[in-house]
Amino acid sequence: MDLQMAEQRVQELHQLLNQYNYEYHVLDKPSVPDAEYDQLIHELIQLEEAFPGLKTLDSPSQRVGGSILDMFEKVQHEIPMLSLGNAFNEQDLRDFDRRIRQAVGDRFTYVCELKIDGLAVSLRYENGLFMQGATRGDGTIGEDITSNLKTIRSIPLRLKDEVTMEVRGEAFMPKKSFESLNQAKVEKGEEPFANPRNAAAGSLRQLDPKMAASRNLDIYLYSIANIGELNIHSHSQGLTYLDELGFKTNKERKTCPTIEEVIEYVDGWVEKRPSLPYEIDGIVIKVDSLDQQKELGTTAKSPRWAIAYKFPAEEVVTTLKHIELSVGRTGVVTPTAILEPVQVAGTTVQRASLHNEDLIREKDIRIGDQVVIKKAGDIIPEVVNVLADRRTGDEMEFSMPTHCPECESELVRLEEEVALRCMNPKCPAQIREGLIHFVSRNAMNIDGLGEKVISQLFAEKLIQDVADLYKLTYDLLIQLERMGEKSANNLLQAIEVSKDNSLEKLLFGLGIRHVGAKAAKTLSQTFGTMSELAKASREELTAINEIGDKMADSIVTFFDMEEVQELLEELVSAGVNMEYKGPKPVSVEDSDSFFAGKTVVLTGKLEQMSRNEAKDQIEQLGGKVAGSVSKKTDLVVAGADAGSKLAKAEELGIEVWSEEKLLEELSK
Ligand code: IVH
Repeated sequence: MDLQMAEQRVQELHQLLNQYNYEYHVLDKPSVPDAEYDQLIHELIQLEEAFPGLKTLDSPSQRVGGSILDMFEKVQHEIPMLSLGNAFNEQDLRDFDRRIRQAVGDRFTYVCELKIDGLAVSLRYENGLFMQGATRGDGTIGEDITSNLKTIRSIPLRLKDEVTMEVRGEAFMPKKSFESLNQAKVEKGEEPFANPRNAAAGSLRQLDPKMAASRNLDIYLYSIANIGELNIHSHSQGLTYLDELGFKTNKERKTCPTIEEVIEYVDGWVEKRPSLPYEIDGIVIKVDSLDQQKELGTTAKSPRWAIAYKFPAEEVVTTLKHIELSVGRTGVVTPTAILEPVQVAGTTVQRASLHNEDLIREKDIRIGDQVVIKKAGDIIPEVVNVLADRRTGDEMEFSMPTHCPECESELVRLEEEVALRCMNPKCPAQIREGLIHFVSRNAMNIDGLGEKVISQLFAEKLIQDVADLYKLTYDLLIQLERMGEKSANNLLQAIEVSKDNSLEKLLFGLGIRHVGAKAAKTLSQTFGTMSELAKASREELTAINEIGDKMADSIVTFFDMEEVQELLEELVSAGVNMEYKGPKPVSVEDSDSFFAGKTVVLTGKLEQMSRNEAKDQIEQLGGKVAGSVSKKTDLVVAGADAGSKLAKAEELGIEVWSEEKLLEELSK
């Protein structure tokens, strides 16, 4: 085939593939079988390989994912990506309506839309060509995820008009794709995503676009950033224009002339929400006229002409089949409700912690009961209450056992505790859980060594204590079921790397009663080495601000134990580091930083650094990071989607910073 023929065929293929793609992914009306589409894509890729000059930016072949990136470039949003104020009930909606009415009078209409639960992205088109797509980031600076976005089939690579514009929308993972992705992850022994939103965000943050391409993401566009430059007069007209250009917009939107109709729309979707093939977390209500939007204006964070109504946590009814007992690292025996699997807020729920016997009594939970389930904070399933009037008489009351379900030693209820504990330090369940804790993220952070592999190693008696982890060899690992050559090598490598961890990770990993990650850090900073800490007296320990009597006792008792001394020796000879490697804390007097002596609260999603990193840096500069806002708070740093803590700060008149401002101050 010569170049001219190839060029013609490539053009034909573009046209056909774009049409099929649009019919399938935007209109939801496929006109050819998938196999035919795949065959044409294949033909196109082959032609592009033979004639590289014919490969263009908008080629449908880009949908399969291009080359792997090292990192995402930062993108400045010329027009900031704001967020929305929230409404949680009817009264909040009526208040919003009153504010609008006061500002623009009575002649206006609302547009109500579904609030898609995914992540906000911005797409830039130049002369109709998709040039760049970015995450929201902190609203001003996001990340360039163009190659990943190109794999979303409903994003047009070329528009039907040669316009230059920036559009915004929500990228998301449909419920079905989410379920099958998680199923595959679980089968591979990987941690499943908590919800479709995290799955979508995780997929778009993959450096390998082929990975993103395999994740079946979708998008609904909901606004044109530079709408003022176009000859458009209302939001709804803007959405129609997006449709005409070939974008996918959500068709459940509705124009509502009054707040009564808005409320009716909201109530309707509370009912219909579970039947949607994607997750929504609320309804967005917008004033339609662009002139009126302009008149209402925006605050620093959000427009005054729109509000997000957030749904209350979804509740569902299911049957409690039985109650399972598990023994934790510290010997606490926890009852867990095993449920008839049921869909709640995007995932299948089949277990919910019942915490302790008191809670079971209080809620009068019986085996066989119909129970109401919800996800607290939309993540952790809990039993809200029991539907006692649906009882048949076959339900059975539950009482906690008197002996440990794993080792059969007698359980004890310590003074002032609601929990029952197994006190046997040799209890296999406690040892196994202790090992899982040792390798976990905040402790030794050994990649590839999750709950499953630890349980396998423990069951096979390949590890009995944490020192045994450092004696594992390739030959031992490869015996394990489903352990491949590569995983075994990676695992050994990760174990090796963990030897260099700074002291606080090891200390936390050892699981000394009452010593959390924070105390482990303080202790490591104060004593510098494990042997110094092991020598510390109760008095020396309690002299430290954050260390109370209970913790001091527990530390002294721990290091007094012969088994502990032996274990530490073994770890030392395995080459595990016993020294603190981080920077020393700065005392308030020594620091000339802005943060010295200040109490800071971090809230919302930080985009440029993790909360832990921010906290570390602030503490390095002599500041304190607290978990909740009070009169004592000096400063609140609000990331994306900050909620009640931000509101509280505003109420108390506390200074609020954006993440950017924080970064600026930290880099001084
Ligand atoms: S309008 C000025 N419409 O909800 C902000 N947002 O804080 C314009 N979202 O992160 C947002 N569905 O990504 C709008 N139909 C919709 C939406 C929507 C989901 C997200 C958006 C933003 C958050 C609001």
